[in-house]
Amino acid sequence: CGIVGALTGRPAAPLMLDALRRLEYRGYDSAGMATVVGDALHRRRAAGKLAELEAVLAADPLPGTSGIGHTRWATHGPPTAENAHPHVAGRVAVVHNGIIENHAELKAELKAEGVVFTSDTDTEVVAHLLDRAIRAGQTPQAAMAALMPRLTGAFAFVVLVAGEEDLLIAARRASPLAIGVGDGEAFVGSDAVALAPLTRRIVYLEDGDWAVVRRSGVQVFRDAGVPVQRREQISTVSAAMAGKGNYRHFMEKEIHEQPEAIAHTLHAVLDSGTGAATIPAPLDAATIPKITIVAAGTSYYAGLTGRYWLESLAGIATEVELASEFRDRDAVLPEGGVTIAVSQSGESLDTLMALRRAKALGQKTLAIVNVPESTIAREADGVLLTRAGPEFGVASTKATTAQLTAFCSLAVALGRKHGRLSEERAAELRRALAGVPGRVGEVLQREAQYQRVARELAHSRDVLYLGRGLSYPIALEGALKLKEITYIHAEGYAAGEMKHGPIALIDEKMPVVVLAPSDGWFEKTASNVAEVRARGGRVILLTDAAGAERLAEKDDHVMILPDVEPVVAPILYAVPVQLLAYYAAVEKGTDADQPRNLAKSVTVE
Ligand code: G6P
Repeated sequence: CGIVGALTGRPAAPLMLDALRRLEYRGYDSAGMATVVGDALHRRRAAGKLAELEAVLAADPLPGTSGIGHTRWATHGPPTAENAHPHVAGRVAVVHNGIIENHAELKAELKAEGVVFTSDTDTEVVAHLLDRAIRAGQTPQAAMAALMPRLTGAFAFVVLVAGEEDLLIAARRASPLAIGVGDGEAFVGSDAVALAPLTRRIVYLEDGDWAVVRRSGVQVFRDAGVPVQRREQISTVSAAMAGKGNYRHFMEKEIHEQPEAIAHTLHAVLDSGTGAATIPAPLDAATIPKITIVAAGTSYYAGLTGRYWLESLAGIATEVELASEFRDRDAVLPEGGVTIAVSQSGESLDTLMALRRAKALGQKTLAIVNVPESTIAREADGVLLTRAGPEFGVASTKATTAQLTAFCSLAVALGRKHGRLSEERAAELRRALAGVPGRVGEVLQREAQYQRVARELAHSRDVLYLGRGLSYPIALEGALKLKEITYIHAEGYAAGEMKHGPIALIDEKMPVVVLAPSDGWFEKTASNVAEVRARGGRVILLTDAAGAERLAEKDDHVMILPDVEPVVAPILYAVPVQLLAYYAAVEKGTDADQPRNLAKSVTVE
């Protein structure tokens, strides 16, 4: 969910609506706002996307210069107007992200006292508990200090109180929250991007912090009110980054920003000219018995690709695991092992919890993240920043290819350091990597062909994606992209495994997207393509000129990608699967940026 709060001298509602637009990628199934004027709280809420709230506000504007707002990704209770935030109890309004784990117990306590709940959400509990304390004569700050130790879970929330036009109370436990310091104004937001046009002076709350925010400044506390100092930082994100420019969707824009995202990320580890490498701690250790990669969604697939590179180029034993599984498993990990948490946002709660679990198991940790100030970046021992720039499309594109680039260049640097790669081979790979942005540019220039094939894909019921070796994770990624944004059922499979099951599904209605660069796996993939054809399947072939020459048949859709060194091919082949999914969504008319039920950054487990 996205959270905003504002204490200004201007009307608060239009300003908060603007900030919520920049946060809409965090959830968009309902939205709401509340303001305070004197002793009265005013509230507007609407189910559906932000445009619905905008319509409600246009018809019935919110007065006031102080307020809170929210765009929701439903956890407790369906996305109705009643369940939309802010939740109000008496004198208190609350917007909240995450889960209050002990809400059932707290709710029972309040119900026993005769409190009547108006929503199914866990948030309302916070509003009632604060209201009860304030009505009993406590100050809002004292009420908050008493409440914080009682709450368990991972969450962030902001409180607005009737009669308090110069006060917001904000709390964060795991879920991100930033406070913006303005000139006689103050703001709260889920991230610095939401606050970018308002102020660049940001105070990031740390896990477990809560804050009393006034126009004159911020006071930060922990637990039952122990004051702590948090430094003000100048955020580097600009408001321009949050726009779509001339593109229809953020996803389209971000797909086209990949040459730059990859080029910038490359320099984070490898200098292709001098050959110099910067291996981030803790991977700079003399020996690494094992690497464990933990991640979710698309980042997990980047991790799967990372394993191939780390094993083959650097010779380091590597395992990849879904963060949500790893965090509750009794993994047996060697002393001195390194866990790499991969996350675009650096905020996915599953991945954060997996990182903490790895630490508890005695592992050193590295974060590969795209957001420098994120929680995962701050908690890991070392950080490797992907430099894709802010990503808003729910389906990750440029952040993914940046992650792949980070893994590949890291593996080359480690391979050289541990003597597994000769200087000559390492130089060859560095040159190949340096050429990737240009090759991606070439793929993008030929996007019309993907658009044509996507039109056909858009009318399929099921689609199968096949790849072997380094192309296998990209096949998984291609299928995920398609299902996320077009709602077409798609499966990614290891080409060699197809004959052990999914082959039963193949008929003339089933498109099969095959990723087959001319690499060491090509011949075997070619046999699997023959198996598909023999069952009447429709083949959509992604390959290079040599591969097309050897494999393409007249009924296939063949898409020829530039020739590249096979080691770097996954970075390139990730792009056409994005284009296929994106243009299929455009053809189907689904919203590529805001597909149903999903959110960009999931801060619940
Ligand atoms: C969400 C998004 C996915 C994303 C995953 C991991 O589920 O819908 O597109 O891949 O989170 O996000 P992260 O920010 O940790 O890479």
